[in-house]
Amino acid sequence: MQGPVAIILAAGHGKRMKSDKAKVLHEVCGRPMIRYVVEAARGAGAKTILVVVGYAADQVREALAGEPDVLFATQTRQLGTGDAVKSCRPLLEGYEGPALVLVGDEPLLRPEPLADLLDRQATEGAACLLGTAVVPDPMGFGRILRDSAGRFLRIVEERDCTPEEKLLREVNPSCYVFELPVLWEALDKLDTGNAQGEYYLTDAPHWLQTFGRKVLALAVLEPNDILGVNARQHLAQANAVMQARIQDHWMTEGVTIVDPRNTYVDGRATIGRDTVIYPFSVLSGTVTVGANCKIGPFTHLRDGTTLGDGVELGAFVEVNRSRLEEGVIARHLAYLGDAHVGPFANIGATAVTANFDGRTKSPTEIGARAQIGSGAILIAPVEIGPGATVGANAVVAKGQDVAPNSTVVGVPARPLIPKANP
Ligand code: UD1
Ligand code: CA
Repeated sequence: MQGPVAIILAAGHGKRMKSDKAKVLHEVCGRPMIRYVVEAARGAGAKTILVVVGYAADQVREALAGEPDVLFATQTRQLGTGDAVKSCRPLLEGYEGPALVLVGDEPLLRPEPLADLLDRQATEGAACLLGTAVVPDPMGFGRILRDSAGRFLRIVEERDCTPEEKLLREVNPSCYVFELPVLWEALDKLDTGNAQGEYYLTDAPHWLQTFGRKVLALAVLEPNDILGVNARQHLAQANAVMQARIQDHWMTEGVTIVDPRNTYVDGRATIGRDTVIYPFSVLSGTVTVGANCKIGPFTHLRDGTTLGDGVELGAFVEVNRSRLEEGVIARHLAYLGDAHVGPFANIGATAVTANFDGRTKSPTEIGARAQIGSGAILIAPVEIGPGATVGANAVVAKGQDVAPNSTVVGVPARPLIPKANP
């Protein structure tokens, strides 16, 4: 097993979410939470990532399928975080070295402080290095207890806190680096004598200390890094922070976002420089926007959409699974689905591609510099030749391809003045 290893706990149901799906599969900016944690662990330098699954194990496995460095350990009964880590033991038999232990419900973790923890654990030779954070509102977290000299004593779970301990604002974000194999000995010591009747991982650092091993708690994490999603309210908070990070990234790359609070950019989207995004626009799913585009206001770009450079899309234009080449313009009220639109084509107000006949989705091809008139309906599958003009309110029937440079009008659309072929 190549180290350092990371262990990510993701076997719980997350009862407070009141959901049928596993908590770690709830999405933050379009991607399941667990993926962010896996990426943070990888970014911190973990070479092998063990994800502990239990509740809805198959779905969690599927969400992480095809990641060569991810392995799964199964925790059959959710007996607590200490028991969850223990379920990795068979996979880690013979491994000696550091294990970064994280929880799958903290999607805002960033790799940098975790890498820092791994470094410090190595230089300090600690059996456990605990990343902590000082937060304005510690509610829900385990609290860090220190002695009068500031040395780490132990973690107390909120439910087991005295009223004084509840006031402590240094919390346990569940970001640990443990030395293996001594951790297994500490986990063997855990019992269920606590408010929840569970095997708490939070007791392991204390046990390592009683073995005479070095345990350090370092406040290297920021409050935003450790937002734990236990309920839907936290999910909304995590989305807001992640959305700000995503937009900040694209602004740094040269994108203008006129009104960040009223714009949504999926974590999988990419945007070219000098593109301007106007308010109330939504980029959902894997969307690629070129440079120098104008998007919005009120534009919805959906999964599988690619825009070339200089594309201009305006109010109430929705584009789904389509490719729009350079310079395409659709300024108002249009739907383009399963379409390929050639360079500099113009899509008039309320023009739509009728890509769904109730059973199957079909493609529409619109050639370069084609002019699609207001209110036109293109019934897919259909092809509009380059330079062709479709008149206002024309309905181009399924398979009735429009010849290059010709003009069609009416319902069903027929050629108006057939142009000579060049
Ligand atoms: C835990 C910590 C707490 C810390 C908080 C925030 C313990 C006992 N408490 O509490 O000190 O402040 O996280 O990080 O560790 N899980 C399993 N198997 C189980 C139980 C949980 O895999 O048997 C997983 C869950 O899926 C979840 C993670 O462990 O991803 C944390 O569990 P959760 O119930 O959210 O713990 P907290 O109450 O938040
Ligand atoms: Ca939690």
